[in-house]
Amino acid sequence: MKCLFTILSPVITAFIITVALLHSPVNKNLLSQHSSTLIDMPEKTGEPDLLTYPSPALLNHAGVSTSQVLTLKEAYRGYFDIGVAVSGRALKTDEGAFILQQFNSLTAENAMKPGVLQPKQGVYNWREADSIAAFARRNGLKLRGHTLCWHQQVPAWFFYDANNNLVNKEELLRRLQEHITTVVTRYKDVVYAWDVVNEVISDNPAEVYRNSLWYQIAGEDFISKAFEYAHAADERALLFYNDYNEISATKRAKIITMIKNLQQKGVPIHGVGLQAHWSVTEPVEEQLDATLEDFSKLGLKMHITELDVSVHKKEHNARQRLPTDSDTLYTTEKETAQTVAYKMFFRLFRKYRKYISSVTFWNISDRHSWLDYFPVNKRKDYPLLFDKNLQPKQAYWEVVKFQ
Ligand code: GLA
Repeated sequence: MKCLFTILSPVITAFIITVALLHSPVNKNLLSQHSSTLIDMPEKTGEPDLLTYPSPALLNHAGVSTSQVLTLKEAYRGYFDIGVAVSGRALKTDEGAFILQQFNSLTAENAMKPGVLQPKQGVYNWREADSIAAFARRNGLKLRGHTLCWHQQVPAWFFYDANNNLVNKEELLRRLQEHITTVVTRYKDVVYAWDVVNEVISDNPAEVYRNSLWYQIAGEDFISKAFEYAHAADERALLFYNDYNEISATKRAKIITMIKNLQQKGVPIHGVGLQAHWSVTEPVEEQLDATLEDFSKLGLKMHITELDVSVHKKEHNARQRLPTDSDTLYTTEKETAQTVAYKMFFRLFRKYRKYISSVTFWNISDRHSWLDYFPVNKRKDYPLLFDKNLQPKQAYWEVVKFQ
């Protein structure tokens, strides 16, 4: 009997593996495309309760050892860092271990914005930002700071006095300096780059600067001051200007002119952040190529700071939900369009690798994205490389498979 079992055992095992493969598209991908690529998995980090993804069970079924998975950060070693925007909560779930497998850089999705860090004047709330910084330190991940000066997610107290009148320029800059100095100093040991100023260029072709309260009170000076304050607090930090709709030639020209003016004035600016909130419909290849070429000529570092690729047609403004918005399934058609887009975007990122040193995804997986709420509230989107079970999508394989 024992002898019969010994003979049949390999047959039974082969049968189980075959059945598992037939029922698992992810496993088929792993086997057919990547079983020959050997790379090391990340070191164990001592994080409690962490699982590894793709799960060992799935990989075992596929006959692939966990040391054979090609991860994003490994595929792009020697090209650029691969980052992800996170909440403190996500790091405490299964997504924590997943991040260690795939990414080597973090950005706080919201936790380092002024509205979270200093909701009331002089009252700092470090909790979530500290937990993200601690995770980065513990696991040796890079950390991008985001963001010090922005017209959104900034508390009203910055701009008003006790009588509810707008403060003057001097007072506004004093408040900005206090905020920037305190925040940058606290994370000096771990944040290597800051998005110092976010989105000050107007989308309106007739305007250069966004008509925010920052601009109304302080004119354009708050921009250079923000960079100077950040540099004074940490002279080693790389300081970035960050903006969206960078693929518009008109907006891009304004961003570039502003940055050149800052450079001429000797303002400490070291990089430009392209948010890259894109979709399957834009940018097209020529547009992105021109964008990357134009920014590369500035002689600054380029970071792709907030990459996501909506499966819906690109829209730039929030709007009401319409009956036509009911098509929210992740269809094969959408998947194919997204795969083509991601493939082209990364091909161009690689083309400009001399200038691009970091590519950060805005969120971890299709479990959660701000695009589920924008431009249409509660319309599901699928903008990332991993599905809600943290399994790689078709686009993932096209992103890691090159050479
Ligand atoms: C902008 C900001 C980010 C984030 C996204 C949307 O791009 O820079 O911090 O808020 O919008 O989520």
